Order: sequence, then C-alpha cells, then structure tokens
Amino acid sequence: MNQRARVDSAPIPFIDVGAQRRRLGTKIDDAIARVTTSCLFINGPEVGQFEKDLAAFCGAKYAVGCASGTDALQLVLMAQGIGPGDAVICPAFTFCATAEVVALVGATPVFVDVHPDTFNIDAASLKRGIETAKRKGLKPKAVIPVDLFGLPADWDAILPIAKAENLFVLDDAAQSFGATYKGRKLGTIAHATATSFFPAKPLGCYGDGGAIVTDDATLVDVLKSLRVHGQGTDKYDNIRIGLTSRLDTIQAAVLIEKLKIFPDEIAARDQVAKRYNEGLKDVAIVPQVPEGLTSVWAQYTIRLKPGVRDKLAAALKDKGVPTAIYYPKPLHRLEAYKDYPVADNGIPVTDRLSEEVISLPMHAYLDAPTQDRIIEAVRDALKS
Ligand SMILES: Cc1ncc(COP(=O)(O)O)c(C=O)c1O
Repeated sequence: MNQRARVDSAPIPFIDVGAQRRRLGTKIDDAIARVTTSCLFINGPEVGQFEKDLAAFCGAKYAVGCASGTDALQLVLMAQGIGPGDAVICPAFTFCATAEVVALVGATPVFVDVHPDTFNIDAASLKRGIETAKRKGLKPKAVIPVDLFGLPADWDAILPIAKAENLFVLDDAAQSFGATYKGRKLGTIAHATATSFFPAKPLGCYGDGGAIVTDDATLVDVLKSLRVHGQGTDKYDNIRIGLTSRLDTIQAAVLIEKLKIFPDEIAARDQVAKRYNEGLKDVAIVPQVPEGLTSVWAQYTIRLKPGVRDKLAAALKDKGVPTAIYYPKPLHRLEAYKDYPVADNGIPVTDRLSEEVISLPMHAYLDAPTQDRIIEAVRDALKS
C-alpha cells in the first residue's frame, strides 16, 4: 500500500477527546494536581467555583453540580415532588435517560413526536400527549423538551403550551449546553435545565458529571439537600429522601479549564457542520439550524432514503470513517419503555427518523483534510 492510500484509510475517531487533552496540556495536569494535593475530593473549592463559572457562562443565576446528567434530571423531578399518578411528557426520539428518570420517580412518561427538520419535540404532538395523559387518568405535571444533537427545541411554541397547562418545564440540555435560542443561552429558558458532562458531550469531563442550571433559589436549596441524602442544615439531620450525587472536585477542576475554551470549541464545531452541509447537501438531507438559533453540534446527523443507511455505514467503515446511529430504536419501541403511553395518533416522525438517520464524526479538532475525506467517502458511497 502506498503512503497516500494508507493515510486515506487510517481510522478517523468519531470524537477526538485526545486532541482536546493535548491542547489543554499542563493546565489540566495542574488543576488535577491541586485537588490531589489539597485532598478536598468531596465538595472542594473547585466545585463552588465551577458552579459560579457555569451559571455566569449561560447567564443563569445558579448552577448545582451533581454526579451525572441523568441525576441532574432526576434531582429536579424529585425536588418538584413528581411521582405516582403524574405524567411527564417527553419526546420518544432521545436518549433513554430522559424518560428513565420519570419512571425512576414513579411517574409515567408519555411519549410524543418530534419535528423531522429539527429532531426536536413537536408542539402539536405535545398538546396531544397532554390530552392522552389526562384521558388515561394521569395528572400532567411536567414536560422535558430535549435539545437534541446540540440544537435548541422550539421554545416559543413549547412554553405557552406548558404555561396553559401549568406544567413544570425541565430542559434536557445534556447534548446542547452552550447553544443559544434567539440570543439566550440554554439554561435561561426553562424553569430548570439539566446538562451532562459525560466525556463525549460538547462540554465533557473526565468521567461522569452533570449540573442543573436555574434562576430559582428555592429549587437550588432543595437540590443541594437532595444531592447529599436529603440533608438539612446539619449533615446528619436528614429531612427528605435523597441521593448521593455530588460533582467530584477533580471533575470540577477539569471542567473549570474546559469551560474556558468551550466558546472557541463551539465555533470550531460550527465550522465543521457548515462545511459538511456544503459538501453533502445535494446527496443527503443535511441538518438545518432555524433562524436565530445556534447549535453546539453534539452530533452531526444526516437523513437518508430508507434502505440506504446500512450500505453507507459499511462503505464508510471500509474507508476508516466511523458512523453512529442515534437512535436505532425510539424509546417507545424499547423493551423497558414499550408499555408507557404514546400520544394519540401515534408518533410517525420518530419511527421514520430512527430508520433514516446516521451521524458522522464531529468534534472541534476535525481538520479540513479529514472533513474532506469524510465528505468524499459519503458522496462516493451514496452515488454508487
Ligand atoms: C439527551 C440526554 N439526556 C440525558 C443524558 C444523561 O447524561 P449522563 O450520561 O451524564 O447521565 C444524556 C447522555 O447521554 C443525553 O444524551
């Protein structure tokens, strides 16, 4: 094999966490060393510092760190007292954690459809889901719109519906923290916003981590209690049932450094997405960002004609280009969730998308020649 052929088929990482690590270099080593020297592994000063930085970053009043994005969602539902007999409306085209937390608190997730162009919750289906929940004798208490793949949901359509029905709005921004909706960063739109710092997320740490962002001081007090076994003013005076769900000090120290370069990384991801869109718009349905919104491109996901996807994935794999399917089975088709209600009239867009979508490598360090190699490989496979 000649040099050019070898370079052209060298495997491309789907997400290159190592490239970011190299950029941050000793800043991360120093931040971790400060924690291992202080030995303040639980609730060290870096946790409070990061919470301040995170709230300031998105323009919210408060941020509360916790152990994962899933816990961030669950802690809010617990704080709202949501439980048996309550319905929480969720899109079915999302990662399972969105609905898992609803079931974990004993409430019922009611699945609704998404919009084909944005992959995000469809307002008409949200209304139908609320009616479905009522018809089944459930009390609709909350909605969890998800900003999927990095793109904010259609908030101007969702919020009035939630208000009219007195629903608590919990934003699942696990994939989209850093994105903006009409000039406002996610974190300032819903009653509470949950995010994940799983390493593959746009703002990831070096293990598990999560946070809730909100302007509600009362909610913050309850969340801070819930994340430490429901503690009261004294550590051993437990006033509610809680979890062990703190953000580790080491992860907070890593995140302080990562947050500093996050705006620059978001801009780089956007450049990659724009280039992909230019190179692929005539061979696939490429993702569009509605006017006035920005995406952090947790995934770059295209849509294909039915039946083409497996062939494309195989052809790309042969050329060292990894792909991923988010999500091959929507939540209402998964064994664990199949018995929960679905909005009346069904959720056909979700079903269709799960057969059409495929995601390409996306990260802030994907250089132009590698992007071109991916674009060329996709074009070749779809033309043949
Ligand atoms: C939409 C969505 N919600 C929630 C989560 C849960 O986050 P974590 O993995 O940090 O628990 C994820 C992460 O994969 C996600 O993508």
